[in-house]
Amino acid sequence: MTSKSVLPDRVRPAAEQPLVRSGVDRASIGALVRKFYSRVRTDKRLGPIFAREIVGDWEPHLEKMTDFWCSVILKSGDYHGRPVPAHMKLNDVTESDFDIWLALFGETASELFIDEIAAVFIERAERIATSLKLAMFFRLRSAASATVE
Ligand code: HEM
Repeated sequence: MTSKSVLPDRVRPAAEQPLVRSGVDRASIGALVRKFYSRVRTDKRLGPIFAREIVGDWEPHLEKMTDFWCSVILKSGDYHGRPVPAHMKLNDVTESDFDIWLALFGETASELFIDEIAAVFIERAERIATSLKLAMFFRLRSAASATVE
């Protein structure tokens, strides 16, 4: 008789599932993106940062962000960019700017979706914000520059 392994056969966390709910589609996600960025653009702290980085036509950014959120929420595979380098170059952004970003995003999601769905958008945004902040503000000293006392 062969002894069965007691180890779980899956050591990786299960992949996130797409959120399948009526009313959650590219059209409603696009509306969220547009309403959110129209708020961001008039915010006194975030507005000038975005105005400096996105000069001229906002349409490509809005479409890219719609692709991004469709990939995050619907697992559409529409987004192929690299968020970390895009934010690493924003030298004057602080950790508290992320609180403003998340507050505006949460407010907008709660206006457009029922609570249960808004909560999914907000939870994913918070998780991604945490990884962006880790990349931007908490870099370990590289081994090459570390000194041994
Ligand atoms: C204070 C907070 C934030 C600021 C000031 C900020 C600012 C920006 C700016 C200026 C860009 C455009 C960069 C460019 O086109 O060169 C950008 C791109 C982007 N942002 Fe943010 N962002 C913030 C937080 C977030 C968060 C929390 C998320 C996700 C939940 C996010 C997702 C993205 C994505 C996906 C892109 C496109 C990157 C690419 O593929 O080019 N951002 N952001």
